[in-house]
Amino acid sequence: MIEIKKQDGPLGAEILGWCPGMPIADADFRAIDQAFLDNLVLRFRGPVLAPQAFRDFAARFGPLRPHVAKSYRDAAFPEIVNMTNQDAQGNYDAVGAGRGVGWHSDGTFEPLPPKGTMLHALALPDYGGNTLFANMVLAYERMPEKLRSRVEGLTARCRLRGRKHHTQGIVAAEDLSKMKDVFHPVIRVNPETGRKSVFVNPHHIVCIEGMPDADSEALLAEIFEWCTREEFQWQQEWRVGDTVIWENRSAWHCGRADYPKNQLRKFMRTTICDPTG
Ligand SMILES: [Fe+2]
Repeated sequence: MIEIKKQDGPLGAEILGWCPGMPIADADFRAIDQAFLDNLVLRFRGPVLAPQAFRDFAARFGPLRPHVAKSYRDAAFPEIVNMTNQDAQGNYDAVGAGRGVGWHSDGTFEPLPPKGTMLHALALPDYGGNTLFANMVLAYERMPEKLRSRVEGLTARCRLRGRKHHTQGIVAAEDLSKMKDVFHPVIRVNPETGRKSVFVNPHHIVCIEGMPDADSEALLAEIFEWCTREEFQWQQEWRVGDTVIWENRSAWHCGRADYPKNQLRKFMRTTICDPTG
């Protein structure tokens, strides 16, 4: 019997009584899928999964697709990308370690950003390296009217590495050069739930379209300051074997780099497409 237990915070729930890799009745999975949409982040605790079991579980939520970072893809399963701070020889990989650090949501530089992202912890340092999540539905709903009235109806120009250079070296230059800017509403409606949330994020945005640069920068700074308030956040403290999936269209996430750099930190990750596209 599965149980959905809300986390102590403004988003997130844990699934008890079942763990990924076990068989599951369709009705139980539907309850998990609904809990995912309602709570924006789900955590499952259990043993370490083989890549195929991880992929198969993620695929229950929607079609998967290979990540743009080709050099980090799993050799056997291209839908799985390895998130690691060490290269194959065990040397510190600063590019790999920098992935996911800082507030963002994934794939917002794509015409149809992903529904969700799933991570599974394979190896963890002795301390640190938590992942923060923030509820962007709540950030929108609680936004002061003075700010909200200025951002409603605006459009953002989005681009991989639009504001940060954190992905430098991850995506091949040839693939980067093929990408075109895309445009998304600053306040976006989740196509499955109909709920509005703050969609612009501090990584993959160039500017507010049609606004002078200085004004755009100033407004984005105000939006980001509001959205990163602690009242919207919950923090995942990882254990090996944890699987976490987040609703990428309505939540931001932020990896923390506050762990010992000489220790391995490694996850499997996959991306769930938005089925409404
Ligand atoms: Fe991310």
